Amino acid sequence: MKTIRDFDLNNKKVIIRVDFNVPIKDGIITDDTRIKESLKTINYAIENNAKVILMSHLGRIKEESDKLKNTLKAVSIRLSELLNKQVIFVPTTRGIELETAINNLNNGDVLLMENTRFEDLPDKKESKNNEELGKYWASLGDIYINDAFGTAHRAHASNVGIASNLESGIGFLIEKELDNLLPAINNPSRPFTVILGGAKVSDKIGVIENLVKKADYILIGGGMAFTFLKAKGMEIGKSLLDDESIDFCKKILSENESKIILPIDVVTELKECFITDITKNETGLDIGSKTVKLFKQYLDNSKTIIWNGPVGMFEEDRYSNGTKGICEILKNINATKIAGGGDTASAVKNFGYEEAFTHISTGGGASLELLEGKVLPGIDIIK
Ligand code: 3PG
Repeated sequence: MKTIRDFDLNNKKVIIRVDFNVPIKDGIITDDTRIKESLKTINYAIENNAKVILMSHLGRIKEESDKLKNTLKAVSIRLSELLNKQVIFVPTTRGIELETAINNLNNGDVLLMENTRFEDLPDKKESKNNEELGKYWASLGDIYINDAFGTAHRAHASNVGIASNLESGIGFLIEKELDNLLPAINNPSRPFTVILGGAKVSDKIGVIENLVKKADYILIGGGMAFTFLKAKGMEIGKSLLDDESIDFCKKILSENESKIILPIDVVTELKECFITDITKNETGLDIGSKTVKLFKQYLDNSKTIIWNGPVGMFEEDRYSNGTKGICEILKNINATKIAGGGDTASAVKNFGYEEAFTHISTGGGASLELLEGKVLPGIDIIK
């Protein structure tokens, strides 16, 4: 697969699709990791005298009022600070203003186009990969570099559409994500242990089906653990139950009894107790300290660990010890340690454990789909 290194960028209009879909609260970016992770590719293009045209989505645009809160203006300001260079922000996604701004670019200049999903009104042109839109955006550049790993599981006009119409390659972020994730999933040093958490089993069925064949152990925490416990006939009180996944859990448990490790204790709103002591009115909101110790026994010997989904409601301090406990264990282990994006990445960062990991993915849905063994269309089109 071609990477940005394979192109002569000098004096070329280089469209770089980045994932600047960052959390913004009251106009303030609360986590700029994705912007920072894009800098290597952008700086490389600047240093190689490209005219840099950046494209990204932000949020979802379903009605006119969504545009106001999902403009990329704040991102252009933060990017300017991080690059230490003016970023030309164009508040539109097509037309004379955009084309003139692009034609006026000098080598080394950086332009950021407004949110690609503004094209989703009225008829989802971006999200449905409208052919005309992909061709139009491709016509604005000479080379297309996809570096939006977080969006690679989408087949949209700004990735698959442009790549179908222009010479294309991947940037350094996608390269780094693939270099870390693929060997860990497909050719792991063993023992290979997967930690799965999060709310619903149904969100993770694909991951479990794919990884149960490859992993030595799957440690299950978070809300999803309770559906597994229920499938074993246990009382789970008012804990989260994903009714429709009970049969799936029964089947996976019966076929992989020694591989799937479930919590033995739990923190509820009233107490920390053995799973068997949960009463009808209690809700399990975190794994208990005995489970952390149990998980440690598996993690200590592991050579590859992939973690997707917090093991408790970590946003609340009193239910965060399970997730913190896993971070602390991983910090002291010498292994390849990978955290999936989304909530797991935020938990790891919030608790200050970034250094404990070999790789923290910038992709939530995208890393999940890689774990499911799926092909990511935004990358496949470049292959
Ligand atoms: C993400 O944050 O997972 C990506 O940017 C994709 O966003 P989406 O789920 O709105 O397509």
